[in-house]
Amino acid sequence: MQNPISHRYAQSFWDRIAQKYARKPIDDPAAYEEKLSRVRALLRATDRVLEIGCGTGSTALRLAPDVAHVTATDVSRGMIDIAQSKLGPDAPANVTFQQVDAADLVEGHPFDAICAFSLLHLIEDVPNVLDRGREQLKPGGLFISKTECLKNRSVLMRALVPALTAMGIAPRVTFLSAGDLHRLLRAAGFEIEQTAYLGAKRTNPFIVARRTAA
Ligand SMILES: C[S@@+](CC[C@H](N)C(=O)[O-])C[C@H]1O[C@@H](n2cnc3c(N)ncnc32)[C@H](O)[C@@H]1O
Repeated sequence: MQNPISHRYAQSFWDRIAQKYARKPIDDPAAYEEKLSRVRALLRATDRVLEIGCGTGSTALRLAPDVAHVTATDVSRGMIDIAQSKLGPDAPANVTFQQVDAADLVEGHPFDAICAFSLLHLIEDVPNVLDRGREQLKPGGLFISKTECLKNRSVLMRALVPALTAMGIAPRVTFLSAGDLHRLLRAAGFEIEQTAYLGAKRTNPFIVARRTAA
């Protein structure tokens, strides 16, 4: 687990806003669909996939028909309850949702791929989560992420975020750049295979990294 104070903070922040988050429309639907297409193109029908920070589970449910199994986890009970409520008779049967911190091991590892969408900037100790990701991947497995890089945002936004966090309006964040993510992924034992910007925004790189064999 990440440090207990950060863990409790993340739980209570995301529990508090879970219902509101579930109602929020996707910012850029075309970019979201492109992300799903790119992820599907990387996955095989036999793959067992872990999604960390899965939120309300929509992405896990969309990816499930193309793989063997998706285990989708989130620190927030509120998010996981909403995700589980989507497991009706028409939902894919090969998805399970669990409340687990991204810094913890998940039952069923090693996985063929791990997805982390809009998550890493919310993690206080990113190297720890990347180490845990590597530990839970088969050699050659993929770590697929899309991360808000606040170091690449305007000066005004960078100044505003800590104030919004202090007021409880925004979550606690780590300021990252695409270069930081590349460096941290390489240090954790990954090779970068793809970096792309989907949609108009240039501040949230989609990065595909492969676990090195050793
Ligand atoms: C911005 S939402 C993104 C949700 C989803 N991945 C998406 O793309 O819509 C961030 C999610 O990360 C979760 N989260 C934050 N810190 C976490 C942690 N330490 N471990 C696991 N999940 C975490 C939150 O509860 C929330 O559901």
